[in-house]
Amino acid sequence: MMRAYRVHKHGDESFLTLENVPVPEPGPGEVRVAHRAVGVNFIDIYHRSGLYPLPLPTGIGLEAAGEIDAVGEGVEGWRQGDRVAYAGGPPGAYADGHVVKAEQLIRLPESVSFEQAAALMLKGLTSAYLLHETYPVKAGETILWHAAAGGVGLIACQWAKALGVRVIGTAGSPAKAELARANGCDEVILYDREDVASRVRELTGGRGVPVVYDSVGKDTFDASLDCLAPRGLMVSYGNASGAVTDFSPLRLAQKGSLYLTRPTLAHYASTPAERQALADKLFSALDKGWIEVAINHRYALSEAASAQRALARRETTGASVLIP
Ligand SMILES: NC(=O)c1ccc[n+]([C@@H]2O[C@H](COP(=O)([O-])OP(=O)(O)OC[C@H]3O[C@@H](n4cnc5c(N)ncnc54)[C@H](OP(=O)(O)O)[C@@H]3O)[C@@H](O)[C@H]2O)c1
Repeated sequence: MMRAYRVHKHGDESFLTLENVPVPEPGPGEVRVAHRAVGVNFIDIYHRSGLYPLPLPTGIGLEAAGEIDAVGEGVEGWRQGDRVAYAGGPPGAYADGHVVKAEQLIRLPESVSFEQAAALMLKGLTSAYLLHETYPVKAGETILWHAAAGGVGLIACQWAKALGVRVIGTAGSPAKAELARANGCDEVILYDREDVASRVRELTGGRGVPVVYDSVGKDTFDASLDCLAPRGLMVSYGNASGAVTDFSPLRLAQKGSLYLTRPTLAHYASTPAERQALADKLFSALDKGWIEVAINHRYALSEAASAQRALARRETTGASVLIP
């Protein structure tokens, strides 16, 4: 038997139940990964609460790192003991182990620890596609990145800075603002207290920015549109404060012929080749010292509810991991 979290009904953290379940056997094309560290991500909260509904009961968690401990029929190129990580479904990473498709695996370089990989994979691959593909940032540009002291934010802002970009971040407290400044942000706006659009206009000589990366959603969406230069791109990639609803495309015309995209990692890493290309960029950025991952919160596997509660209440910075 092994321990695994299950969600039988959508709701708050108390709906996460840790159960003893039979150790799953990998089917054809699958492997079982014995987890050494598990990543905690905001999407796990959406899955648990039902903002992104899942067929129930369900496992929970999309990201972990560990060693392969069983290999299914027809799997080539992977064997027991290989150090790997994955970021993607089916949910079930909050567990001692999980069965995933072999094609989802990323091989870990020796230089990357299990904890680093669990903290980095989903957030780092996301940063990679947002900065290189959704809107390929260019040296000398100024960009706006919301929740700059968060898990994705700290990685992405360091990376953007290393690419020669001037980064304006937002953060929820002075302490988070300081951390964001130490991790790539040239300027930080305290978005609960300051008018974000006016500050961005001030900081860009009135022009606005060519791109806004907005993972906060409902609370920041309107202000983000007001920060953009004509024909700028609004990248709405998350909903930490709630989902954006009731949007009329006419507003894009009124605010400067803007573009809007709502990207997700799954569509930028939909094949093993795409996923590996993003992982190569991520490991290369790590190797060059462009990014460091801040694992600021470690919990035992049995403390997943506390980990999610702290993330949802804006009490965390950087990444949180569960240790089985
Ligand atoms: N589309 C994709 O492919 C993709 C992939 C990965 C992650 N994401 C999204 O990226 C975002 C960041 O994920 P993460 O796991 O790294 O989380 P995180 O940024 O560490 O945590 C969310 C942060 O959002 C800010 N926030 C502002 N208003 C909030 C509110 N009402 N409730 C909660 N948080 C609020 C908080 O920072 P302050 O206190 O500084 O405001 C909080 O720390 C999430 O929205 C997630 O869904 C999207």
